[in-house]
Amino acid sequence: MRLPGNQGFEKMLLSRPSKNGICTLQRTCWLRTMAWRTLPPATLAWTPSHFHGTWSNTGGGTRHRRFMVAAAAGAGLGLGTILAYGDHRQKAAKAEPPESALSLPFPVYTRQEVARHHNKASRVWVTYGSDVFDVTDFVEQHPGGKSKILLAAGGALEPFWALYAMHNQEHVLELLRGYKVGELSPEEPPQMNPEDPYAHDPPRHPALRVNSLKPFNAEPPPELMAESYLTPNELFFKRNHLPVPSVDPATYSLSVQGAYGQAFSLSLEELKKNFPKHEVTAAMQCAGNRREEMNAIQNTNRLGWGVGAISNARWGGARLRDVLLCAGYKPSDEGHVWFDGLDQDQSGTVYGASIPMKKAMNPEGEVLLAYEMNGEALPQDHGFPLRVIVPGVVGARNVKWLASVSVHPEESPSHWQQRDYKGFSPSVTWETVDFSKAPAIQEMPVQSAITEPSPEACVTPGELTVKGYAWSGGGRKVIRVDVSLDGGQSWHEAQLLPGEEQLPSRVWAWQLWELNVRVP
Ligand code: MTE
Repeated sequence: MRLPGNQGFEKMLLSRPSKNGICTLQRTCWLRTMAWRTLPPATLAWTPSHFHGTWSNTGGGTRHRRFMVAAAAGAGLGLGTILAYGDHRQKAAKAEPPESALSLPFPVYTRQEVARHHNKASRVWVTYGSDVFDVTDFVEQHPGGKSKILLAAGGALEPFWALYAMHNQEHVLELLRGYKVGELSPEEPPQMNPEDPYAHDPPRHPALRVNSLKPFNAEPPPELMAESYLTPNELFFKRNHLPVPSVDPATYSLSVQGAYGQAFSLSLEELKKNFPKHEVTAAMQCAGNRREEMNAIQNTNRLGWGVGAISNARWGGARLRDVLLCAGYKPSDEGHVWFDGLDQDQSGTVYGASIPMKKAMNPEGEVLLAYEMNGEALPQDHGFPLRVIVPGVVGARNVKWLASVSVHPEESPSHWQQRDYKGFSPSVTWETVDFSKAPAIQEMPVQSAITEPSPEACVTPGELTVKGYAWSGGGRKVIRVDVSLDGGQSWHEAQLLPGEEQLPSRVWAWQLWELNVRVP
């Protein structure tokens, strides 16, 4: 009974790490076994200075064997680093490992030795727990960007994964296992647990369906979605990439870059006092809405949003257009408006995005610097004290905890503008994706979903009420919703429920609908 519609565009990328991970681990062990057994005497004389492994304290036999394995690794892998590691994995893959091969120990390293592998030239090594991984071959494919994974180069992953806690998933661990090259010496102290960067996140409503706790990503339960035209703030879906910042409204200021290069700042009070308040009812939808249905066809390994990564609210604030005019820009000016948030990672990288100047300056575009949500101050999760609301445009451009606004000839260089929130063919994978080939998503296409009954529900013959929402990006009005109970053979026109009357081409709010029908 689901209506066809946008299945979500955010990162339509597929990867199949699981099997590779397991196989690679086995192949690596096999390689080391083969090298040990077939090593010519000359190679055994490999100088230990070329080997970065740590001698084992155990008896001579194990020690000897470790040396030979390590020397073989050194010989095959060159200058003590595992330069041809990828090649070896491929070659070794052709042979099946004997059972006994799988139990051979890995070489042992100190943290100092791992730290030497901090860039591509020296190979990129990281540790997780007591394991050492050579992730050089994965750096380019890292979904979060090359620069992010390189922050951990030569050190522990834990402090970074505490921030990007979505890494703590079996498929990621499995992928990582495929790159294991050693173990940390037992004498090494364990990595201290970093302070939880999410410790100061606000409390949330227990009804929310949580897709990821850190960062917090959650959606309302479908059966509550069509209950109110304006989604209560507590139930409005929450999409965070980083910890939620706590901002003191008394000291907060927004930095605005003026048309002639000068920058000025606006306190919250100044923004409220100097610019007329404008209100707009608009739905916001994350590009990943309904990815759960996409994952059911082919796993994208991304957040499995149900039908709830969309909500509808009445927003109040200053028009971005008014602020930009005050900053000296003209309605005909071209370019892109960059927004930077206050939420940031360890490297100081903040969440950022941009929209075309044309949308920002269009009086009918109704882009807001919003400080109110459904008549209340913005909740902390939704960008307190100030966020951007870009009606009709994908949620990703609605930057929360707004720190600065500036205008540039090109789009924001932010990761989330350049290497995320783009749509690709289903055949594109994380290995083959070229982000420069697709435009950043702005306006969203038409969408419609059933919120009740749920896909698993068993309905009894007789009267059935089907509920749902429909929405289109770009201010386009939904004029009709058709529902089929027999897989598309016949259709029933749903009743569109009353909501706010909105002007043509400025229909930003969603349309709730209902169908009362007899089930045979
Ligand atoms: N702004 C900042 N500063 N940080 C974020 O993580 N997430 C974006 C956008 N703005 C985000 C942000 C995304 S992807 C979406 S879908 C919307 O905020 C979600 O807004 P909400 O949490 O208020 O529903």
